[in-house]
Amino acid sequence: MVSVELREILKILGDFRLEIKSLKAKEGEFLTLLGPSGCGKTTTLRIIAGFEKPDRGEVLFDGRVMNEIPPYGRNIGMVFQDYALFPHMSVFKNIAFGLELRKLPRGEIEKRVLRILKLVGLEGLENRYPEQLSGGQQQRVALARALVIEPEVLLLDEPLSNLDAKIRERLRGEIKRIQKELSITTIYVTHDQEEAMAISDRIAVMKDGTIEQVGKPLEIYYNPKTEFVARFLGLSNILELEAENGKVHLGKLCFNVGRDGKVKIFFRPESVYITEGDFAEIVGHELLPGRIRLRLSIEGNEIIAERFLEELPFKIEDMPKSVGVLIKSYTIL
Ligand SMILES: Nc1ncnc2c1ncn2[C@@H]1O[C@H](COP(=O)(O)OP(=O)(O)OP(=O)(O)O)[C@@H](O)[C@H]1O
Ligand SMILES: [Mg+2]
Repeated sequence: MVSVELREILKILGDFRLEIKSLKAKEGEFLTLLGPSGCGKTTTLRIIAGFEKPDRGEVLFDGRVMNEIPPYGRNIGMVFQDYALFPHMSVFKNIAFGLELRKLPRGEIEKRVLRILKLVGLEGLENRYPEQLSGGQQQRVALARALVIEPEVLLLDEPLSNLDAKIRERLRGEIKRIQKELSITTIYVTHDQEEAMAISDRIAVMKDGTIEQVGKPLEIYYNPKTEFVARFLGLSNILELEAENGKVHLGKLCFNVGRDGKVKIFFRPESVYITEGDFAEIVGHELLPGRIRLRLSIEGNEIIAERFLEELPFKIEDMPKSVGVLIKSYTIL
């Protein structure tokens, strides 16, 4: 297992500037680059793979500088967003390609291809051509092709983005299972925050060519360092209020913020508990499967709460005009 590290990377492409001071995927780790379109995810992956040379800085595998080593010398497996399968080659040939380049003996190639086909659940399809496969199957061929060379590093660029929601969910579970089984250091790119949460050991959130925050999924979700990260990872409540004596009061709520003046208090809708009481006015609601999302107004500040139905102190049919609210965890941005 190897670690992958970027140090003081700078890459300028037209008027886009990618600047990564430091980023490290540990041995066997599943690290995800998450961010909106155009933030530099693919560029970062291409620098790690060696398809793009940084203007400054270093790419290190296990502490060894790789800058001068071409992609084929880096022992990486890469899956591109559009799969890039060879249309005129069978599934077997597509997967065997990298092994043939490496001049492995015929018998060894066959053994490895059949083993990897089993791993990705494509046994029996080795003679088909890409056009005879579904999107999900093509994606597995691309994954098999990247894995068959037994890479030390796996780079996946939005590998599930062309698939429908059901297949996407199933395949992301399989990618994770295979990655853990082979313990390959993996860098995964997506702009889908749910996918990132589900699959990653750690997530690096990117914005405009820089990394905003790196952390474990729940750390980033509940303790974002910036408003951008907070908003990118799902529904959020951000209250801009005035603190006095280290505290902010709102209705019957009291936040200990440890400073005075303007503060931004952040919490997720599921951190808002509904109690009996009347200082939060219900201004709207939306039913979700088994849950309810409430829009509440407290002294003119709107917040969102999300609860399972059985947690409410009232029946949906007898929804009161106002309720009490308890916020169990929050953080200051
Ligand atoms: N060869 C190039 N010349 C000029 N600009 C480029 C080049 N390649 C990429 N860019 C620009 O760099 C920025 C980052 O591109 P990149 O492909 O890394 O983004 P991304 O995060 O992968 O986006 P997406 O989610 O849409 O795939 C974009 O603004 C893009 O237009
Ligand atoms: Mg991209």
